[in-house]
Amino acid sequence: MKILVTGAAGYIGSHTVLELLEAGHDVVAVDNLCNSSRESLRRVEALTGRSVPFVEADIRDESAMRAVLTGAPGRAGPDAAGDVAESPESAGATVPAGDFEAVIHFAGLKAVGESTEQPLAYYENNVGGTIALLRAMDAAGVRRMIFSSSATVYGDPVAVPIPETAPVGSPSNPYGYSKLMIEQILRDLAAADPRWSVALLRYFNPVGAHPSGRIGEDPRGIPNNLVPFISQVAVGRREALSVFGDDYPTPDGTGVRDYIHVVDLARGHLAALGHTKPNCRIWNLGTGRGYSVYEAVAAFEKASGQKIPVRVAPRRPGDIATCYADPTRARDELGWQAEHDLDAMMRDAWNWQQQNPDGYGEQ
Ligand code: NAD
Ligand code: WQD
Repeated sequence: MKILVTGAAGYIGSHTVLELLEAGHDVVAVDNLCNSSRESLRRVEALTGRSVPFVEADIRDESAMRAVLTGAPGRAGPDAAGDVAESPESAGATVPAGDFEAVIHFAGLKAVGESTEQPLAYYENNVGGTIALLRAMDAAGVRRMIFSSSATVYGDPVAVPIPETAPVGSPSNPYGYSKLMIEQILRDLAAADPRWSVALLRYFNPVGAHPSGRIGEDPRGIPNNLVPFISQVAVGRREALSVFGDDYPTPDGTGVRDYIHVVDLARGHLAALGHTKPNCRIWNLGTGRGYSVYEAVAAFEKASGQKIPVRVAPRRPGDIATCYADPTRARDELGWQAEHDLDAMMRDAWNWQQQNPDGYGEQ
């Protein structure tokens, strides 16, 4: 299949592009590089021996998206001037014309805390950007989308494990609401026009890195998420991990999450590509097992041989006690299930961090 991947240079995007190429798909990558480095896709090219045509563009630029989807060289309309740049490296692999069968849509802003400070930026980028992309897809006749949703839409779950039929809750931040809104838009679109095929993938907690250690998660600034923070403590970039609360109603008092290896998550997208009926469907992508913060720290220490200093800190506003998936539907309908355990996740997170202590750096 020929697939357009938005947000392709990012953490999950780059791992998915790699899996797509290895499975024989053709990929065109779009990213505005607001939270990623061009280097990630260069490394994907090196790992796979295949070229990844790259278009530096913003998904909010509808005419730029139309140009990419229809294969127009670089530009679609006068208003798009200056906004689309094929990277020099992709000059030999210019964006091939049209004929896309699907869009895998990762592009978006994802920092929960930042979203409470800059809600408009989040709604504009995530919701507005997705609408622009959908309009461009419709105009180009490309009506299959795989969307990166999040377990955050469940809010504080009434019960665990969480099936897709669980009520969506009240996310505690604009980021979560942006995901809920986009889900609703996609549901409405699929209901209005049966030509659309939409997969809503609700990710639990993606962690780890490609086993090569060449691509991985490279957060800017202080990491918000647990595993990147632990990894940076392990390489000496941070002093100690703050454990956000040890008084939750969980076995050891710390928060419990469903960590999923990013390679498993990436493969979930390939599985979803094959599914077309019904024309809008939700799948959880999680392992079905929850681990506490202390268990995650212990697994990282085992994988790395490093002691991770921890100190207990107050609960983080908006956090919940426990969240893990019921992944049965994805197994039964997509034939997909996570294969990597927590030890493998931490081994690969550590391998990436050790090989790239400063991430992709200023490449
Ligand atoms: P990421 O920030 O590494 O990747 C997102 C990519 O999108 C980045 O490369 C960024 O530069 C690009 N981007 C952002 N806005 C853009 C725009 N307007 N136009 C073009 N490119 C744009 O994040 P990730 O962890 O790879 O997440 C990918 C997707 O999965 C996001 O939509 C995120 O909300 C969702 N998600 C992530 C997690 C997680 O914990 N990582 C969990 C659930 C859902
Ligand atoms: C995991 C656990 C923390 C950092 C977030 C988003 C969610 C989704 C995935 C995008 C929790 C604890 C963390 C630290 C800690 N993203 N923790 N010290 O909060 O489950 O989910 O990322 O969709 O929307 O909210 O993941 O990795 O931040 O936290 O103690 O320095 O680790 O309290 O229990 P979370 P996380």
